[in-house]
Amino acid sequence: MGKPEINTTVQAMMQAGKGLLAMDESNPTCNKRFAKLGIPQTVEARRAWRELILTVEGLGEFISGAILYDETIRQSKNDGTSFVKLLTDAGIVPGIKVDTGAKDLAGHPGEKTTEGLDGLRERLSEYRQMGARFAKWRAVITIGEAIPSRGCLEANAHALARYAALCQEAGLVPIVEPEVLMDGNHTLEQCAEITEATLRTVFSQLYRQQVLLEGMILKPNMVLPGRDCPTQAGVEETADATVSCLLRAVPAAVPGVAFLSGGQSAELASARLNAMNLRWWSKTPWVLTFSFSRAIQQPALDTWKGEEANIDAAQKVLYHRARSNSMARRGEYSPSMENS
Ligand code: 13P
Repeated sequence: MGKPEINTTVQAMMQAGKGLLAMDESNPTCNKRFAKLGIPQTVEARRAWRELILTVEGLGEFISGAILYDETIRQSKNDGTSFVKLLTDAGIVPGIKVDTGAKDLAGHPGEKTTEGLDGLRERLSEYRQMGARFAKWRAVITIGEAIPSRGCLEANAHALARYAALCQEAGLVPIVEPEVLMDGNHTLEQCAEITEATLRTVFSQLYRQQVLLEGMILKPNMVLPGRDCPTQAGVEETADATVSCLLRAVPAAVPGVAFLSGGQSAELASARLNAMNLRWWSKTPWVLTFSFSRAIQQPALDTWKGEEANIDAAQKVLYHRARSNSMARRGEYSPSMENS
């Protein structure tokens, strides 16, 4: 079942000093971000944006894997070089988002479950032939009045586990992403409690579905107070709360934890990842790295604005974020680097 290949891919993805770049926004999500900046919401604009990212010189120094979207994995640079080839030539492992989105969970107002299991075996086989070596599936958990429910946690964990088992059968490394959202006014403690319950449920289902823990990557949220919580926490406090939560719920056999950024500012995401590595270096059984989308892309997108004249400046901004997160993954980032 492709086990040696899975181990090789995991090692490449989790190599020292590097992390993952999520560029797998669905078309509606990408369009929403474009619309805010007045960028046309077209196939060509999305392609041009992804080309800008993938042609950042030296990206492979900091990024070990990039998560693509169905539209993107089929696209090419304007000279005809496929994005998959660009990545592979830069030493970056190509990956693919394979869920088809979070939909309302019947009978559970305010909660969602992720779809995409139907036909997944065939889609994985096609993506593998196109060069993908890992995949991603995101589940969304909302904290609110009396939610998340057990029904929601279990439905999402079950889908994640069935997806992960199918990936390993196909020789692809599954990124398992249960995201507890930052939306709301919940406290740091509430986020820790719900994140722990979510992760315990996910690992119980991964075990039931015979997923090889050594052959997967976990992509969790950091443990943070809700965006609207009146009491926000310091960088060190959130770092400690996150690692303590993971230590209780994530088995040591898992090789890597690659955080999502979830709507934090780019600088805070780097600072918090840095604090985790600095304070917990060699005290965790897994690698702690990044798999950010907004915290790498957004500052560069704000610079690009869809204008050819801004490409160079936007690429510099993206390079800087990739480098900053690579430093954070080693515990060597400092906010003073933002001004240099
Ligand atoms: P953010 O880092 O913007 O949260 O995105 C990560 C991701 O892959 C969402 O599924």
